[in-house]
Amino acid sequence: MSYKSSVPLLNKASCPHVVQAPTVIAMVGLPARGKTYMAKKLTRYLNWIGIRTKAFNVGEYRRAATVDYRGHDFFRADNKEATEIRTQCAMMACEDACRYLQNGGEVAVVDATNTTRERRRLLVDYIHVKNNHKLFFVESVCEDPKIIEANILEVKICSPDYLEMDKNKAVEDFLQRINHYTLSYEQLDYNHEKDLSYIQIFNQGERFLVNKLAGHLQSRVVYYLMNIHVLPRTIYLTRHGESEMNLKGRIGGDSDLSERGWEYAEALAKFVEEEKIPNLKVWTSEMKRTVQTAQFIEAPKEPWKALNEINAGICEGMTYEEIQQKHPEEFAHRDQDKFHYRYPSGESYQDLVARLEPVILELERQENVMVICHQAVARCLLAYFQDKSSDDLPYLKVPLHTVIKLTPVAYGCRIEFLSLNIQAVNTHRERPKNVDVTRTTDDALHTIPDHPC
Ligand code: SIN
Repeated sequence: MSYKSSVPLLNKASCPHVVQAPTVIAMVGLPARGKTYMAKKLTRYLNWIGIRTKAFNVGEYRRAATVDYRGHDFFRADNKEATEIRTQCAMMACEDACRYLQNGGEVAVVDATNTTRERRRLLVDYIHVKNNHKLFFVESVCEDPKIIEANILEVKICSPDYLEMDKNKAVEDFLQRINHYTLSYEQLDYNHEKDLSYIQIFNQGERFLVNKLAGHLQSRVVYYLMNIHVLPRTIYLTRHGESEMNLKGRIGGDSDLSERGWEYAEALAKFVEEEKIPNLKVWTSEMKRTVQTAQFIEAPKEPWKALNEINAGICEGMTYEEIQQKHPEEFAHRDQDKFHYRYPSGESYQDLVARLEPVILELERQENVMVICHQAVARCLLAYFQDKSSDDLPYLKVPLHTVIKLTPVAYGCRIEFLSLNIQAVNTHRERPKNVDVTRTTDDALHTIPDHPC
């Protein structure tokens, strides 16, 4: 074969220029201020953009250390025995976070209250001075009673501390716990901690204050946190209707919808009408098949170049059989590492994630949106919402003529696959068992359904 492999098999670090030094992100704030929500969401985002990130929740360490929840008195500042246990738990989380960074992790998120200067000083000494990692604090300051109440209700339903407790008693106990923390709470304050790097987020995004931003990673974290919101909304994700090229089993191109594809476009418009979605916006790619799929929907439409299908380079317009015949080595290399493999003169899934980052950021800013896109693009977007690894991402199943409804709940996202019951070819190609460059055509193709895409 004349084309050299484009698989960076040895270089799995997908974002080597972003993180100069391993970083700990430490949350700050009273209970019920959305810290865990932010910590989990930030962790999911950083992993999605290729930065190895893990969250360490101090509450989980405390639960492991104390077995049974001991009630709000455990959080009183004058409870010496409990204060000692709580400090030990915080330090255990920091130790694990640093160990993670020393073993290939790039960012560790320490999800804890860290509400006193003394506690934050302990973190600085251990993480920055002793272990030489960067440290960035993210404080959620929230005085809006409505937001606090919503967060408390969420805790009442979700917290493992209260699983066995009557719901009203749980709320009462939790409010007392917040009171104990409030008595000793010291917000991050320039007059006392001006050397620390931090962002303060007021009332979940109403106002921000940033201090001593140190480096590209911290800027990206700040930019992300400034774009997310907690308003209820739904995102609808779908591929275009079946296209003429889908029918022929050819990848890429810019073909029209098939007859069944047009049927889907009509059914999709009816679905949207029946869902009665307030202020819906519809985003498509710039390709004919997504624009045609959106055609009958009554809502403002916006085409995004960033939503175009993965560029298959020299393989554009071919069937998988043709790729195997003309470029068997390329085909095998793609199967060896589908996320990192870049089609010659085209793109990889990794490239696609980078291209889609602005789409995700804008989706985070928006309320109800329907995204009509393509198989590889939908896989990347779905991986973000489902917190899927880069290894699983290229194999996520996104069938044609199906709407994926994503509704934010507690710390994640409810996902429903709604088939609109219109027949279409199956374009999913399973992970093949044999990925050797010397494999036979049969071995390379036996996983392919009738009409691959
Ligand atoms: C907890 O024990 O649930 C939180 C620990 C902390 O204060 O950070």
